[in-house]
Amino acid sequence: MKEYILGISYGHHESSCCLFCSDGSVEYLREEWVSRVKNDFRFPVFSLNYLKIKYPNLELNITAVCLFEKPLKNWLGIGTKKGLSVDNYVNKLKQFKKSDIYFEKSLKKVFKKIPNILYCPHHLSHLYTSEFLLKNKNLNTLNIIMDAYGEGLSGAIYSGYGKKIQLLKEFDTSSSLGILYSGITEWCGFKPNEDEYKIMALAGYGEPKYVDFIERDIIQFNETTLDISINPNYFNFEDSGKETIKHNFIEKFGRLQNDKSILDQQEILNCICSFQYIIEKTVIALINKLLLKHKEITQVFLSGGLFHNSKLVGEITRKITTKILVSPSPGDGGSSIGAGYFAMLCLNKNYIQDNNNPFIGPKIPNIDEHSHLFSMVEVKDTYNKILEILAKDEIFAVFSGYSEIGPRALLSRSLCCNAKSKSALERLNIKIKKRESFRPIAPVIHKKYLYENFEFNDNSIENSFWMGQLIWPKKSVEMKNHPFFHVDKSVRAQVFDHESDLHKKFIPKILQRLLNEGHIIANTSLNIAGDPMVFIPEDLYINCKRLEIQYVLQDDLLYEVL
Ligand SMILES: [Fe+2]
Repeated sequence: MKEYILGISYGHHESSCCLFCSDGSVEYLREEWVSRVKNDFRFPVFSLNYLKIKYPNLELNITAVCLFEKPLKNWLGIGTKKGLSVDNYVNKLKQFKKSDIYFEKSLKKVFKKIPNILYCPHHLSHLYTSEFLLKNKNLNTLNIIMDAYGEGLSGAIYSGYGKKIQLLKEFDTSSSLGILYSGITEWCGFKPNEDEYKIMALAGYGEPKYVDFIERDIIQFNETTLDISINPNYFNFEDSGKETIKHNFIEKFGRLQNDKSILDQQEILNCICSFQYIIEKTVIALINKLLLKHKEITQVFLSGGLFHNSKLVGEITRKITTKILVSPSPGDGGSSIGAGYFAMLCLNKNYIQDNNNPFIGPKIPNIDEHSHLFSMVEVKDTYNKILEILAKDEIFAVFSGYSEIGPRALLSRSLCCNAKSKSALERLNIKIKKRESFRPIAPVIHKKYLYENFEFNDNSIENSFWMGQLIWPKKSVEMKNHPFFHVDKSVRAQVFDHESDLHKKFIPKILQRLLNEGHIIANTSLNIAGDPMVFIPEDLYINCKRLEIQYVLQDDLLYEVL
């Protein structure tokens, strides 16, 4: 008889569930895919009901449910000190009512019989998500977890794996590089905890002219204690009733002028660039010190929301030769995976694990059964038809295989075009996806072209399988002229390895052939700007109609949108 263990994360960022089955199968769901509410952070009731329908015996055979954090510890961890603003305490009371403190009560609304409930410490959820997705069984592993905050901390460092982990260091919220980055995101007029990737892209437009000032007055790294101190005269990390950016910061760096494009405000861009630079320098110094102190370490795993920053990860991996891997889902949205894995460890449930990869979302439904929405294109050779689409600078959708866990589309639910064509790329990026011009669309390139044209740390190349890091071209490489390069000549490529079982299994064969033959495919998520990724054929149809996409590739068959 099959048994199940369920991990859940919600309350802050994207909610998710991850179901582990004793037969070795795993299914991950992001609440926004099912609820259709972008960045849905509520209790994942839609996902749980989806799982209950798909697995009719789930409720009878569920061994445990594990939440990704300890709710009360998390609530008490920030904004509860004396002397904060009245608004802060009002916010805290509101948060209490909406928080995951009522986890058990919410669970009772979905499951009649409440299973064994466990709570995984916040940063261990990140650690175990990495451990599961990166298949770690190496005791000489260093886990560096850095995020905004969780349970009163902004990060932690552990060595080991499984039950053999050892805590080496914790960072409290006063040294949160995650909250600092969110504060700068808000200062630039973007949504904090959501739009940090835009700030990362903008950093390339600035000059690091404030680095000396920031190092002297704002952020210091102590090489002996490994503490990171951030001057509280510039940032407020505790009081939710006040802005994160303080008066002294505004005095030094000014304010965004709302009537001008941010790209025309060089001092703002210089400030962003300088903070990005210091964050990179600080984390690189931290890793170097740790590697010096712990000579037995052979690999470093990075997780936590800070490592969504693919420029940070790229700079780390090109400056440190040790194998350094970032989790394919480093933020809280992926933490249901770690929570479920933690429960398996606690309960000594050694479920077979043969399915740990970034494609553990549900199998993508067959669109053949929706002949009223899509019709198969009758051509002798689908490959040639795709070549024709690319040559005409047209865009096609991919809806095939298994859903990638995110945050990035990895050719299961993607919009694609010829990445070498400036006009196709601009049309896809700006007209169709309505993305800012400062964020170029990422290409998928074959590993052999990577070796020929880019400089990178071969030990850490796996990060590029899930677009976790930027890479930089070799000097005087002709490819730099391609339109997928960022202004600083970096590129956040998805690298395709024809020898990788992961790619052979999960990337449609036609796309594998295109990549093997030297084509470079632009790849962005299959959704309308501001909407969640498509999940069912009806979402696909609506998206294709609104985005004016004519073709969909599924399992090497091409369909036309009716
Ligand atoms: Fe976190």
